[in-house]
Amino acid sequence: MAYQVIIPAAGQGKRMGAGRNKLFLTLEEIPILIHTLRVFDEDEECKGIILSIHQDDEKPFKELLKEYRIQKVTKLVHGGKERQDSVYNGVKAAQADGVVLVHDAARPFVRQETIHQLVQAAQNVGAAIVAVPVKDTIKKAEQQVVSETIERSSLWAVQTPQAFRISILRDAHEKAVEDQFTGTDDASLVERLPHKVVIIEGDYDNIKLTTPEDVYFAEAILKKRKQLG
Ligand code: CTP
Ligand code: MG
Repeated sequence: MAYQVIIPAAGQGKRMGAGRNKLFLTLEEIPILIHTLRVFDEDEECKGIILSIHQDDEKPFKELLKEYRIQKVTKLVHGGKERQDSVYNGVKAAQADGVVLVHDAARPFVRQETIHQLVQAAQNVGAAIVAVPVKDTIKKAEQQVVSETIERSSLWAVQTPQAFRISILRDAHEKAVEDQFTGTDDASLVERLPHKVVIIEGDYDNIKLTTPEDVYFAEAILKKRKQLG
């Protein structure tokens, strides 16, 4: 089933500490940005990529798109201060109907199969997200004193992509702007419409490269995937 995808790539990568946007860092000599874009560029169902970028990265990003022959970036938009602003600028540039995905540029390992399940669920329900069951025991604390142990069986660690019927995502972002609400993902804006959001179980290796250790994990994941063919 056809979809369009908004890819926020306008961050600064502060926690990675690379001195520039972490998306330029390479894994097996290919920039993280390109690893992520390729997943969608090579997916027949993907009808267009809206890439949200920082103004300072515009020139080098355009050069990378050319060098690696990325075909499906139909729109480049400028990002904003927060991730949510960067996504919203993408929402404004999206086509009027159908399903739209939001996927972090810093998550290069998402699988096509997961994407397709997610798009189907979003088409049916209106909103769907990829998540994995939490493995750790999670406790709530005030000033490092435990106040509660949260029942793990009901907890999910949420990833991207997240998929929505475009009208729902647009309404959710507009309401968030109106209410001056900032969420850490797009589904949280949809939840407060309110609208039902369903979970598709994904893979633990769909990591987001956030801190320097993640680069080692990412290299291991790539190596494992090569061995498996
Ligand atoms: N992002 C964005 N616009 C922002 C902030 C983040 O488009 N204003 C993007 C990032 O480029 C990344 C994704 O959102 O692909 C997830 O954000 P995160 O992992 O936090 O990346 P950064 O914000 O770049 O990193 P940091 O928070 O460590 O500075
Ligand atoms: Mg950030």
